Amino acid sequence: MRRILVTGGAGFIGSHFVRRLLREHPEYEVTNIDKLTYAGSRDNLRDVEGDPRYRFVQGDICDRPLVEELVSQADAIVSLAAETHVDRSLLEADDFIRTDVHGTYVLLCAAREQGIERFVYVSTDEVYGAVPEGYSSSEMDPLRPRNPYAASKAAADMLCLAFFASYDLPVVVSRGANTMGPCQYPEKMIPLFVTNALRDEPLPLYGDGRQVRDWLFVEDHCEALDLLLHEGTPGEAYNIAADNYRHNIQVAEAILELLGKPRSLIRHVADRPGHDRRYSLDWSKIRALGWSPRQGFDEALAKTVAWYGDNEWWWQKARSGDYQDYYQRQYGWRLEAAARQEGEG
Ligand SMILES: NC(=O)c1ccc[n+]([C@@H]2O[C@H](COP(=O)([O-])OP(=O)(O)OC[C@H]3O[C@@H](n4cnc5c(N)ncnc54)[C@H](O)[C@@H]3O)[C@@H](O)[C@H]2O)c1
Repeated sequence: MRRILVTGGAGFIGSHFVRRLLREHPEYEVTNIDKLTYAGSRDNLRDVEGDPRYRFVQGDICDRPLVEELVSQADAIVSLAAETHVDRSLLEADDFIRTDVHGTYVLLCAAREQGIERFVYVSTDEVYGAVPEGYSSSEMDPLRPRNPYAASKAAADMLCLAFFASYDLPVVVSRGANTMGPCQYPEKMIPLFVTNALRDEPLPLYGDGRQVRDWLFVEDHCEALDLLLHEGTPGEAYNIAADNYRHNIQVAEAILELLGKPRSLIRHVADRPGHDRRYSLDWSKIRALGWSPRQGFDEALAKTVAWYGDNEWWWQKARSGDYQDYYQRQYGWRLEAAARQEGEG
């Protein structure tokens, strides 16, 4: 294995993964196909643009001729390209079905035709749906996605495993927990809260803020994907997590504390419909392969917050243009209602 095709490498996790492949595997050549949606940016990989082992192709994973051409030049595929934001999927899910489901199918067909050596599909813990307190999802559990994003990922996840069962395509599926780190588009909770706090704007916290998530640092997530690319057993899924459980409100408080901002910036707003209360993964299977996370929650959050503090140009650019329309649509009425309630209370 020498030529790796990464999809979605201009996004958050993908850009860290591309950089890691180039750094850790000096013999590898990496091609990155990315459509450059609002969530992707070539800024995320400026530092490797000049590397002769790296090639960027702007393109859509649904574009069959392009995908066939790129797959014919690759030994392995790591697929991260997706529409990824739950809230956007609740507003309108067309692009999620197109990219996450059909795009993955196009990649699988090309991989099968070309006899690819390894296909890593980057799925998510959200495919299991909400899990009760005291329980952690194992890879054998049924998938019970509860929002359109999670459902589109679950469909692709199952398609991948079906291609192994039906055609022996050497697919490995990863199901990672919530991830934080530099270069995450500021619609997601942590960069949203960090950049709002840096601007002294309110932090819109859904519902009572007692939803539980397990937080993984992006470098740890990428190290696990690298391991699965090389050591994962075809036909198997692997959970990736860190046991860094926090309520969302604790995350908001920790961010404000790191930035020296007042707790009064937190605004409880109307919850996301169908908001999963808790995710938790049993990750003993990947631990047995020799991986465990290096970063605890506090260290990971401090690094993440510091990066946004040092890279205002990056997030100001991300927050311009369409972002403002999205933000208004998602949070405008919620923040107004919260302010009205506060006034009445
Ligand atoms: N961020 C998390 O917490 C998390 C956790 C577990 C799994 N995942 C999964 O990891 C992957 C990467 O997530 P992320 O947070 O980096 O996402 P992201 O939204 O930051 O990046 C997605 C990238 O995919 C690209 N893309 C979108 N549609 C495309 C298309 N049709 N063709 C080619 N490229 C396209 C975008 O331009 C962007 O660069 C996703 O598959 C996501 O489901 C994310």
